[in-house]
Amino acid sequence: MAITILAIESSCDETSAAICRDGKILSNIIATQSVHEQYGGVVPELASRAHMQNIVPVVERSLREAGVGLDELDAVAFTSAPGLIGALLVGAQFAKSLALALNKPLVTVHHMQAHVMANLIEAPGPTFPFLCLTVSGGHTQIVLCESPTQMKVIGETIDDAAGEAFDKSAKLLGLPYPGGPLIDRYAKEGNPKAYRFPEPQIPGLDFSFSGLKTAILYFIQEHTREQPGFIDNHLPDICASIQYRIVSILLNKLKKAALETGIKEICIAGGVSANSGLRAGLTEMGKRYGWNTYIPPFQYCTDNAGMIAITGYYKFLEGEFAALDAAPSARADWNQ
Ligand code: KG4
Ligand code: ZN
Repeated sequence: MAITILAIESSCDETSAAICRDGKILSNIIATQSVHEQYGGVVPELASRAHMQNIVPVVERSLREAGVGLDELDAVAFTSAPGLIGALLVGAQFAKSLALALNKPLVTVHHMQAHVMANLIEAPGPTFPFLCLTVSGGHTQIVLCESPTQMKVIGETIDDAAGEAFDKSAKLLGLPYPGGPLIDRYAKEGNPKAYRFPEPQIPGLDFSFSGLKTAILYFIQEHTREQPGFIDNHLPDICASIQYRIVSILLNKLKKAALETGIKEICIAGGVSANSGLRAGLTEMGKRYGWNTYIPPFQYCTDNAGMIAITGYYKFLEGEFAALDAAPSARADWNQ
């Protein structure tokens, strides 16, 4: 018998719902909240409010596009952690009410585990064990994945996430939020070796991006003092040089993790895996070191319910259900 799951994602500023049948995504609807643009970052209370407005139409559309009726659902999955607590509560409350009304099991999904699992949505996916570099606006992790439900974080950032490094650099350049995709766009026309930003020396598999942010701040202050139009006149070269350094920090640690574990199945995931420099760098490194590399399709890189659905599906197969008193959490240690 087919297993059909409705999944909800509401951890930050995307309201998303997806339908998955036997591990295949039938629909993946994402409503992005534009209300935050004018504030230069996500405003938690506005995010909760927008989720309240979006959630019913987004779920209805996900069912309609999949051609699935509520009576065909076998479970309801939702993102339970980590994220903005007010935003998570909207998705959690909706999912729990629906599971109760339909008398179907509830599945809680860890957002970061789901980013990793996005690599299993389309075939051919990686074979276990594999390594995944998960890079988003809130996290930067290297994850060792033994099975769909067994994952271990073996390296992570000690300060800013890679997405924050992109967004904060973009803000210093006067670009709107979220600046990561804009840096990517300008970088395509620039020279990545035009300016040299420092690579931090952090032991082990951990990352640090706060020094880079400070270096960029001093670089901009120094150059704009001498030439007020410096940023406007050199934007592509500055963006390409910033992107080059962020990508090299990420890929050097991923290479170290691959060498230390001997694993050659290598994935990336999370919003920053949409970055063209990172995608090209991973592919090139894969060829050099004999890795099989995997990158989820674009719509499954940034926050989406498709990744929650696929993770919920595997948890369903394992019989990992949540009680109806399950509550979301802003932070979560997921080393299990
Ligand atoms: O995974 P995600 O959608 O949300 C979080 O869970 O954080 O990641 C969002 C992050 C933002 O920092 C955004 O600037 C970054 O991903 N991002 C990019 C690109 N597309 C999204 N960063 C660099 N280049 C891109 N093309
Ligand atoms: Zn995310």
